[in-house]
Amino acid sequence: ASTLGASAAEKGRYFGTAIAAGRMSDSTYIGIANREFNMITAENEMKWDATEPSQNSFSYSRGDQIVNWARNNGKQVRGHALLWHAQMPGWAQNLSGSALRNAAINHVTKVATYYRGKVHSWDVVNEAFADGGSGGRRDSSLQRTGNDWIEAAFRAARAADPGAKLCYNDYNTDGINAKSTGIYNMVRDFKARGVPIDCVGLQSHLGTSIASDYQANIQRFADLGVDVQITELDVQQGSNQANIYQTVTRACLAVARCTGITVWGVRDTDSWRSDNPLLFDGSGNKKAAYTSVLNAL
Ligand code: XIL
Repeated sequence: ASTLGASAAEKGRYFGTAIAAGRMSDSTYIGIANREFNMITAENEMKWDATEPSQNSFSYSRGDQIVNWARNNGKQVRGHALLWHAQMPGWAQNLSGSALRNAAINHVTKVATYYRGKVHSWDVVNEAFADGGSGGRRDSSLQRTGNDWIEAAFRAARAADPGAKLCYNDYNTDGINAKSTGIYNMVRDFKARGVPIDCVGLQSHLGTSIASDYQANIQRFADLGVDVQITELDVQQGSNQANIYQTVTRACLAVARCTGITVWGVRDTDSWRSDNPLLFDGSGNKKAAYTSVLNAL
């Protein structure tokens, strides 16, 4: 097929992008998004600060703009993200202990209930593990409510939307390292104890090289009995960019339970990064990286 989404679909996968509501009136942007991608993530509009700006008062208009556009155009939606230490609303930043735990679980329940039936996969918890060699949890106000906050969130999400796949999502997890192993151990424990988890998201914000065990890392998660999704792929521009994109695509296709890839934006000028990490240039032209992905699909 001649687009990323259609080619991925031929392999039983999806190919997605992040969409920013504020760019949707740009016809070049939305035209590429509509043509190339069949899975959509809201770049910011479904995060805690966006959806619950004051406590127990919910705001879905920006998220709905993206979700409705996606569904009206035959695309599926990744929900991002129910709980994350970043982009928390100010009121939640001022809470701790059981008040924060209760607010967090209420948030998960309300947002997942609102979007029930419309979300293919939810990032239930985002970036809860520490960087570096510890393999442990990141310190955060959420973590200080008790180590079981992650499983409590997954249970609440399952109850609210039994049809959505529930994912744990993180970065710097792109090879076998202390952080990805910490997550691996958590997922293994969740599966053993019946905590509802269906998928692991590897954000894959990459520089000029890629771990040689990228595919092996995907495979070890799949072997636990969860799907793997590449959720926020972008790769620093440089002589290796097209190769790295192709390596990621091939690795995902090589693992049956790697069900799809999402790139974190459309054109380089839409990216949160300044190193031109995406598949289309600022004018909307396909880059070499685009061709390398399409050829790998
Ligand atoms: C980024 C967005 O792209 C930016 O627009 C925003 O200012 C900050 O967040 N990991 C994630 C994403 O899970 O939500 C982040 O998105 C990028 C890193």
